[in-house]
Amino acid sequence: MSTPARSQATFDAARVRADFPILGRTARGKRLAYLDSAASTQKPTRVIDAINAFYRESNANVHRGVYELSEKSTELYDQARGRIARLINAPDKRECIFVRNTTEALNLVANSWGRENLSAGDAIVLTTLEHHSNIVPWQLVAQQTGAQLRYVDIDDDGRLRMDQYQQILKEEAVKVVAVTHVSNTLGTITPLKEITRLAHDAGAIVVADAAQSVPHMQVDVQDLGIDFMAFSGHKMVGPMGIGVMWGRRDLLEAMPPYQGGGSMIREVHLDHSTWADLPEKFEAGTPSVADAVGLAAAADYLSELGFEQIRQHEIQLTNYALGQLKEIPGIRLFGPDGEDRAGVVSFLLDGAHPHDIASILDGEGVAVRAGHHCAQPLMRRLDVTATARASFYVYNTEEDVDQLVHSIEAVNSIFGSGAR
Ligand SMILES: Cc1ncc(COP(=O)(O)O)c(C=O)c1O
Repeated sequence: MSTPARSQATFDAARVRADFPILGRTARGKRLAYLDSAASTQKPTRVIDAINAFYRESNANVHRGVYELSEKSTELYDQARGRIARLINAPDKRECIFVRNTTEALNLVANSWGRENLSAGDAIVLTTLEHHSNIVPWQLVAQQTGAQLRYVDIDDDGRLRMDQYQQILKEEAVKVVAVTHVSNTLGTITPLKEITRLAHDAGAIVVADAAQSVPHMQVDVQDLGIDFMAFSGHKMVGPMGIGVMWGRRDLLEAMPPYQGGGSMIREVHLDHSTWADLPEKFEAGTPSVADAVGLAAAADYLSELGFEQIRQHEIQLTNYALGQLKEIPGIRLFGPDGEDRAGVVSFLLDGAHPHDIASILDGEGVAVRAGHHCAQPLMRRLDVTATARASFYVYNTEEDVDQLVHSIEAVNSIFGSGAR
């Protein structure tokens, strides 16, 4: 098949790529085309250096010391929280709780808010698009409280069935709607602002899984109107081991702690304790200070690239990829076509298992994911057991896409409709 002309570049991804040292290496002896950023992103020198500098120059435990290094470490940790609050336009940085990742953030909300506010007869609304991280914590809290789980389905293009959502809101005593902002499998961008407006009209709160949106677009918690939001540092060029749970201050203040231990208390007596103010109430134990510093550097890096430019770059690259992939005989592409799609492309090839596809692509230096993408209910809804998935980010170029397409054509000539 012929390769379409390269589109006009508005974003210098080749220059961005040069900021990421790991992308200079080869994979299986070939140029590395890293197309698994939905799972975890690579890190720019700036983030690596920020973490390195913290350990070289400022390392000490926070809050507890009265000496210079501890003051420095505490100041950096506090500044990092402020930079995260600015990133998502949180009205108050104390609403940003540092956790390990999106999974921990969602467990925190489900356990702390859920156990306090849910009881038998209440409904928890989820969608078939959700990652297991936004399903299993709610299943656990439903078992403990007697609340019911209700799921909003998708249509055949992978968009949420808003008609069904409205019906559920009408029929059930919905207390919480927990929904992904962007599907990690189909790339669907859900209408979160509208979902929130409808939930609030029905008296429910909204918990947004923003693991795949905060890294890729400007996310403004006040504009969206949501109540809680979860995201991970490692999916936004930051380090592994740090994430954020943002929540509305009035809700956070009314919630019980999630974990007990050091730092989260005001007073401890033999038979009871009282709690520290926000954010410490939800940050038991020694925090991951170097990772918070690295995450703040990541937030600055992305903000300087500009979220509008990042989004445009990803739209352009996704369209470039879809345009070529559609031409491959026997390919099945998943997810909506249009502006409400992020840079995630799940696909299947006739006659080839996704794991075989990923392993042949690996031999060509192309890193993609194959499997259920921690979304087994979605796989069942699509009537597949697994897909192969390529996902794009700031450092991906049309050269990466070309490498992907040529490698898939090679797979197809071995297994698929292209086989002779
Ligand atoms: C939409 C979505 N939610 C939640 C998660 C879980 O993120 P983490 O493993 O960082 O907790 C992921 C990770 O793939 C995701 O894509």
